[in-house]
Amino acid sequence: MQQIISSFNSTLNSSNTNSVRRLGINSNHWYVVARSNEVNKTPISVKVWHQSIVLYRDSTGKVVALEDRCPHRQVKLSHGQVINDKLECAYHGWQFNSRGECAAVPYLAANQKLPSCQIRHYPVTEQNGFIWLFPGNEAPKTEPMGVPEWDHLNYIATVSVINTQAHYSYLIENLMDMYHGHLHQDLQAWAEASLQNIDEDENSIHAHYTAQSYYRIDKIWSISQLFFPSLRRLHPEPLDVSYIYPHWVSTLGKDFKIYCLLCPVSETQTKAYLIHFTSLNAFWRLHKLPIWFRRLIKNSLFGSAQKLLDGLVIQDIKMIEEEQQAFLQNSAIKNYELNRALVSVQKLMKNQLKS
Ligand code: FES
Ligand SMILES: [Fe+2]
Repeated sequence: MQQIISSFNSTLNSSNTNSVRRLGINSNHWYVVARSNEVNKTPISVKVWHQSIVLYRDSTGKVVALEDRCPHRQVKLSHGQVINDKLECAYHGWQFNSRGECAAVPYLAANQKLPSCQIRHYPVTEQNGFIWLFPGNEAPKTEPMGVPEWDHLNYIATVSVINTQAHYSYLIENLMDMYHGHLHQDLQAWAEASLQNIDEDENSIHAHYTAQSYYRIDKIWSISQLFFPSLRRLHPEPLDVSYIYPHWVSTLGKDFKIYCLLCPVSETQTKAYLIHFTSLNAFWRLHKLPIWFRRLIKNSLFGSAQKLLDGLVIQDIKMIEEEQQAFLQNSAIKNYELNRALVSVQKLMKNQLKS
């Protein structure tokens, strides 16, 4: 198999490669625009592919997503406040309901009707600790991908936010190309990746690598390997990475699962949430303990991989942003590619724009 991979030696021609760097998004998917704990009664502004959107919670706790634009004078509604579940513009106090309709104007004369102006409202749902938004014009036909481990008592979560001045294709290619473990050698995340095979369909690519993992979570104390490098021992594990448009999921052996939930902002800016889970599935004795105690363990170990995850993000962002800058300076320059998973990734990104 190694020979097959080694013999695969393609250079992506420059026009193909470069066009990916200006691709838009397929907006008929669910994107992750915020963490649940970022949204409350005070409006916040988020951006998905050039669309400014205001988020707030109503009195029942439900999240509302509206176009962040007052139709009166085009200022941002996110400067305003929520009054009786309606979003009030900061400028003249017009109010908008959760469907984006103008519901009140404080100085409306008795002989005047409410203006018929309406702003866009978006399908939005809260699931597994994140706010999922559907920016497409069609009605959603699918459910958000979700992150089931977020609520599962056997998984310890760590979250790192990626904010990078680069097109989302650079981020996805970074995440799908496990040969870049070279960059993270000092952080000891994984080593010796070798691509074995790829499964793909129109919405996803699953690249299967073999690799060496530094961590083995088989005793409860072994979680301390996340903090103490001297406890780590290299051993072989399967390393699977999946691009499930527009998001990314990875597993390293049975002990680790990582998600990258995307929110592309523009051709040169991408936001994403990287979520690392350490599995406690191996500890059957733990599973017999009372739920409240297991929840206490889960909550108190939250963020235990923070240093590792933040370190990986810093190193990746540096490379991704340099790639973006090089492209902006000379978009005709040619890349060379040896990893066939990336050929599939670029093809899928382009095909998503045709569908
Ligand atoms: S600009 Fe929003 S109420 Fe006037
Ligand atoms: Fe990385």
